[in-house]
Amino acid sequence: MAIPQKVKIVEVGPRDGLQNEKEQVPTALKIELVNRLSAAGFPNVETTSFVSPKWVPQMADAADVMAGIERRANTIYSVLTPNLRGFEAALAAAADEIVIFGAASEAFSQKNINCSIAESIERFAPVAHAAKENGLRLRGSVSCSLGCPYQGEVPVASVVDVVERFAALGCDEIDIADTIGVGTPKRTKEVFAAVTQVFPRERLSGHFHDTYGQALANIYAALQDGIAIFHASVAGLGGCPYAKGATGNVATEDVLYLMDGLGIETGVDLAQVVGIGDFISTSIGRPNVSRAGKALLAKARSDQPRCA
Ligand code: HMG
Ligand code: MG
Repeated sequence: MAIPQKVKIVEVGPRDGLQNEKEQVPTALKIELVNRLSAAGFPNVETTSFVSPKWVPQMADAADVMAGIERRANTIYSVLTPNLRGFEAALAAAADEIVIFGAASEAFSQKNINCSIAESIERFAPVAHAAKENGLRLRGSVSCSLGCPYQGEVPVASVVDVVERFAALGCDEIDIADTIGVGTPKRTKEVFAAVTQVFPRERLSGHFHDTYGQALANIYAALQDGIAIFHASVAGLGGCPYAKGATGNVATEDVLYLMDGLGIETGVDLAQVVGIGDFISTSIGRPNVSRAGKALLAKARSDQPRCA
């Protein structure tokens, strides 16, 4: 199959990248990050989560973040909602896309959202219904699609099962998420081969964390199978509060460099994103783990004229 000529990059840094930060990131900084990302051309920015602040304190300012950002007409601002309470807050905050998030592993479902997979689907059903009634986009994220920190191996059939349940809830898009970054291209291909049997390929996305350094290889493998939506986090920020040792998503700069090299259109300006990666990692005192980002920053600095 020919690789897609155009790919949608969903920037998840403001949510997945920051949710694990122990120190509270100032709301104004989150707002500036979202504004800079939308200005760089991302068609979709995962902005925040309307979850329990007892579970994820960093996202407690979700309503303020949503109220403070400048909306761009061509940007979809997505938010995570685990239940109807989260949905109502998301609706009040004028989110464009509601993200429900389940897992292909029972153990992870319990740790992340405190219920079984089946219970989570029951809880998501009214959220999905309300999202549709209000004309909002609905996305479903399937954690642990390529492996689980508690259970280890996750059968492909379990991923397919959750994808089918999300499809039945009316999801417009479904994310195949490698929460702990253990997947390799072979497994990525096996999972996409199976899930594309039950949900349209063009509405499936790859959400790869980069713990084992496989994310770009997995993206390339998925591209070869015609997947054209990928999630990434600027500067590679992040980690999952319920997956110890898991690192951030694949760095956006690295994904953009890959796409540019393959001649794939994203509509996002790499140079601008490199600057944003530098800005956010410096602001919160985190290392910038984007290889392309660091290389391009070093190049830009060495290209600057020096005083004698
Ligand atoms: P629970 O403790 O079972 O439920 O949590 P609860 O109803 O007893 O709620 C606990 C407290 O939170 C209560 O407060 C509720 O009112 C409040 P109290 O009465 O004790 O004062 N509460 C809320 N507050 C604000 N907004 C809400 C909300 N709901 C309840 N929406 C629950 C169950 C699902 C709420 C909880 O487990 C939760 O919020 N989990 C979220 C976990 C999370 O955000 N994880 C990270 C995102 S997922 C992810 O990163 C994976 C992804 O990136 C893909 C991948 O890589 O795999 C998407
Ligand atoms: Mg994630």
